[in-house]
Amino acid sequence: MKPNTGTEKVIDETVQGTTLTLTEDDKNTRKLYIESYGCQMNFSDSEIVASILAKEGFNTTQELAEADLVLVNTCSIREKAELTVRKRLEKFNAIKKINPTMKVGVLGCMAERLKSKFLEEEKIVDMVVGPDAYKDLPNLIQEIDEGRNAVNVILSKDETYGDVAPVRLNSNGVTAFVSITRGCDNMCTFCVVPFTRGRERSRDPQSIINEVNDLWERGFKEITLLGQNVDSYLWYGGGLKKDFDNATEIQKATSVNFAKLLEMAALAQPKMRIRFSTSNPQDMTLDVIETMAKFENICNYIHLPVQSGSNRILKAMNRLHTREEYFELIDNIRNIIPDCAISQDMITGFPTETEEDHQDTLSLMEYVKYDFGFMFAYSERPGTLAARKLKDDVPAEVKKRRLTEIIDLQRAHGLYRTQQHLGKIEEVLIEGTSKKSDAHWMGRNSQNTVVVFPKEHYEVGDFVMVKIQDCTSATLLGEAMEYSKNN
Ligand code: SAH
Ligand code: F3S
Repeated sequence: MKPNTGTEKVIDETVQGTTLTLTEDDKNTRKLYIESYGCQMNFSDSEIVASILAKEGFNTTQELAEADLVLVNTCSIREKAELTVRKRLEKFNAIKKINPTMKVGVLGCMAERLKSKFLEEEKIVDMVVGPDAYKDLPNLIQEIDEGRNAVNVILSKDETYGDVAPVRLNSNGVTAFVSITRGCDNMCTFCVVPFTRGRERSRDPQSIINEVNDLWERGFKEITLLGQNVDSYLWYGGGLKKDFDNATEIQKATSVNFAKLLEMAALAQPKMRIRFSTSNPQDMTLDVIETMAKFENICNYIHLPVQSGSNRILKAMNRLHTREEYFELIDNIRNIIPDCAISQDMITGFPTETEEDHQDTLSLMEYVKYDFGFMFAYSERPGTLAARKLKDDVPAEVKKRRLTEIIDLQRAHGLYRTQQHLGKIEEVLIEGTSKKSDAHWMGRNSQNTVVVFPKEHYEVGDFVMVKIQDCTSATLLGEAMEYSKNN
């Protein structure tokens, strides 16, 4: 989950060595070390990979030195993300010198972007596997066991992993991700995702609901429905979203859109908290907002990236809405769900961005006063339309200065928003011990704001009513009053 922070969140640097506690898999003899970078979808995919490999005799380990197989699930979203992975590969190389039987595989977006070139560029890599090819891992591992390099970067037309029950890695046992779409058809001109994750396809709603039910039975209390662009979810029996127009009349009549899926999930488990990420403003419809308002268990929080406040830049980015249409959407959200939290992603220094465009971004932020934000300096990605057609012409210092300005403004807005919670009694789901104090719990309210309070007799996974007494720009501090009726 993206943490609440008013500053640039360097999600690319997120690292997770993972452990799996085993019961029936104790007979497994080989050790898998898996590290994930980038978006929530990558972390979710690593759970699918661990599940596939558990059946192939691999237990996960957090000890790099004892690994038989090291997998790194990579991110290509910004150059820095790729550089971080290259550095890690150097470290793996050093270990391989001591332990020459250890194999190294690259998964995810860098694998897809660079394909077999990876084997030449990074001599230590044995295996390159794109985001849609994880089911082929048993065959690919056999290849590397026999001393050959292995590559599969074929993208799929179908939801690839609907029938794989993910192994929950590093889980707090309370919150989990459930992926609902793969790929993206939006073609924002700066973005590498459509190239690395392929065309958009949706997962069978029944398999999503089965996963939600299973999570509930195993004690989970909150799920986040995941996709690059969840509002464009559309199930009509399988296939690419772009082929929906050719679907039969029956398929069209029985199709399930995102609002309907949300309703199905909310009804299937009325006490399970439901979140979703990410929404593209151009695809978010009123019926989604109305469905959120209708069900108490759907959280009042929308991550609604806008990228820029300038109409000219939005157009150059191929974001298919204007600033005015975005304001209309924000007004609708606030009218229908007055206490809904809204967060943003923003890019500074997109090619041709002027000082006036930047001021438009600041004034858009002023209008919305986002609760949180994730802000980045533009990073040119090879193969994207922006890289092919537009010169990366905003100097690095200017990008950086503009980034600092929007981060500072976001911090002020974060504080403004957290202050609105003071004195209120809010329901918090306890996720674990606070990072700063063993005597305090950390959880989130419906708006996704982190709430910290003394532990008393409460436990992880409890819904607790907390009186909010103090705040920073990203965190609420309070005191538990009683259990929520939702326990
Ligand atoms: N729809 C996706 C967006 C993926 S990328 C989702 O589910 O989150 C996450 C964010 O990274 C984008 O919203 C954008 O703000 C940022 N980003 C994408 N490409 C970028 C680039 N080339 N340079 C800088 N930031 C970028
Ligand atoms: Fe990227 Fe735009 Fe899709 S940011 S993931 S192309 S919605």
